[in-house]
Amino acid sequence: MTNIAVLVSGGGTNLQAIIDSVADGSIRNVRICAVISNNKHAFALERARKAGIEALCVSPKDFASREDFNEALLGSVREAGADLVVLAGFLCVIPPRMVEEYPNRIINIHPSLIPSFCGTGYYGQKVHEAALARGVRVSGATVHFVDQGTDTGPIILQKAVEVREDDTPKSLQLRIMQEAEWKILPEAIRLIADGRVKVDGGKVKILQAEAEK
Ligand code: GRF
Repeated sequence: MTNIAVLVSGGGTNLQAIIDSVADGSIRNVRICAVISNNKHAFALERARKAGIEALCVSPKDFASREDFNEALLGSVREAGADLVVLAGFLCVIPPRMVEEYPNRIINIHPSLIPSFCGTGYYGQKVHEAALARGVRVSGATVHFVDQGTDTGPIILQKAVEVREDDTPKSLQLRIMQEAEWKILPEAIRLIADGRVKVDGGKVKILQAEAEK
């Protein structure tokens, strides 16, 4: 069984995709042991509660310093017994100590085809505004391991989505969520839980399923 802690900050549609994939059996041997948000108003916490999953708020506002918050966040992940940490729209910087303690065990969903439109300042709709401003014909989403950088860890899965002439940042964001994010994030979790994701020399190898051999 792989215990996953899902870190969220907003609406939680990616969290919902994971919850639904566990419930319908497309992801096996996975238990969402906790949903943790820095934002007590995050609807994602409501989604967790409705699914009977422990929902915690660990907010920087409640701590005297960023260091104290970092310690509390890491502590809540440890206490939850997470084997894998999933960042599903989590907007806080991950403490370096958490990255050290969970090497290639933290994954993130980013709403572009990394290395395009990623790194500091590229989050939420800003990513799609930049993609439309550049005039790309294709965008998409990426699931990657988290390292000490921002959106720089080994890439696990990507999925491309066509950009349409009449797209707005909002319409592009929604299509990338529907056609890419909500598919590749659960798929990445399934592959990891099935032991099929290896990192070798900074690159991800996805092993063939036993049945396919
Ligand atoms: C998604 O677009 C994701 O790519 C980005 O943050 C957003 C989170 O949305 N990292 P939700 O909270 O999962 O609905």
